[in-house]
Amino acid sequence: MDSIHVTGNGPLNGEIPIAGAKNACLTLMPATLLSDEPLILTNAPRLSDIRTMSMLLESLGCEITPNADGTVQELRTAQITNHKAEYDIVRKMRASILVLGPMLARDGQATVSLPGGCAIGARPVDLHLRALEAMGAELDLRDGYVHATARGGLRGGTFEFPIVSVGATENALMAATLAKGTTVLKNAAREPEIVDLALCLSRMGAQIDGAGTDTITVQGVDRLHGATHAVVTDRIELGTYMLAPAICGGRVLLKGGRRDLVSAFCVKLEEAGIGIEETPDGLVVERKGNRVRPVNVVTEPFPGFPTDLQAQMMALLCTADGTSVLEERIFENRFMHAPELTRMGARIDVQGGTATVQGVDRLRGAPVMATDLRASVSLILAALAAEGETVVNRVYHLDRGYEQVEQKLSACGAKIERVKAA
Ligand code: EPZ
Repeated sequence: MDSIHVTGNGPLNGEIPIAGAKNACLTLMPATLLSDEPLILTNAPRLSDIRTMSMLLESLGCEITPNADGTVQELRTAQITNHKAEYDIVRKMRASILVLGPMLARDGQATVSLPGGCAIGARPVDLHLRALEAMGAELDLRDGYVHATARGGLRGGTFEFPIVSVGATENALMAATLAKGTTVLKNAAREPEIVDLALCLSRMGAQIDGAGTDTITVQGVDRLHGATHAVVTDRIELGTYMLAPAICGGRVLLKGGRRDLVSAFCVKLEEAGIGIEETPDGLVVERKGNRVRPVNVVTEPFPGFPTDLQAQMMALLCTADGTSVLEERIFENRFMHAPELTRMGARIDVQGGTATVQGVDRLRGAPVMATDLRASVSLILAALAAEGETVVNRVYHLDRGYEQVEQKLSACGAKIERVKAA
């Protein structure tokens, strides 16, 4: 298995281009199932999760033609030739559940493996299913699969999500575009990825109002057509690399970065003493002063502080001048990076969903293990500021969500390299 070797060597200076959002692309790709015409996605990130989604869609009958460098994906599903999303693919990536709503909406039938739990929590899909039921879907859970049918097609309905769910909002939104009549989704997720999906679906001919607010209204149409759509900037990749100069010192331009995508995160960084400037080319982040100030963080659905930046923020706070408290409210088991950071000299006490981080002067390099995508990059960030060498193992997690990490960071002066497994 590959590993990443990092040696902390002082401030970072330069530019880092931010790619298209993984989590937007993973919901835009299944939208191909709603139309027989081509959907062209530009600014697509080059990641293993995108390849997994391609494999899944191909297994359902979609033809996918990427351009030479993989940043443009042309998807065409002339016909859905297989309505079953198999366990072998779904178990690799939970976002696979996003094919359920579109298949059901187009053909009135879909069978999708239940994804099961994952390292960061139980992560059920009950809300996806309940929202589709509100549109008239009949569901039968058997043999580890959800068998969904909608005789005569889906029909509009009203559904209020009891808790905010990004994926369930996406599934319901896609399904509603082809349902008969009006669908109202209340307490909907407001993430930029939802707004991006709604924009793409509107380009395909859908009639959607209110995306980006907590109430989305969809007027169903008979058919959707092809479209070309540029994937929104990855706000989590943006926030992650904003933390690199925050941790090591220096000044870095995050090309394509926008403050409105990460505003709650920016407020916390500024509270810690980090300078952020919005320019026409992107965000410029600079650390003035020696140590950052401690801050308290609570993760929340958008527009709150994102759970997907909690691990990386913890890496920064490990060397703050005082004690910070991080409260994780989205997933019940998302502190697996804490024991690994502790191996690097951090002082962290985890009690349930709360981690108390007492800042230390300096972290020290150590062999550590990536446990999930965001945990793995938090270890790399910590390693950039640590004394000596850190070896991050199990980096396949990292490759799911970050393209060219070593290139992007070494272009700013970091000492980082990937060591290929023999
Ligand atoms: C999306 O996951 C992201 N994944 C996650 O990104 C992100 O952490 C999460 O949203 C929250 O922002 C993709 O977009 C592919 P949820 P999703 O449904 O949609 C509970 C990353 O690192 N819930 O908003 O699966 C759930 O257990 C990741 O890129 C139910 O109870 O998240 C969680 O506690 C990992 N029943 C909460 O809701 C359901 O049916 C929010 O989850 C659905 C969710």
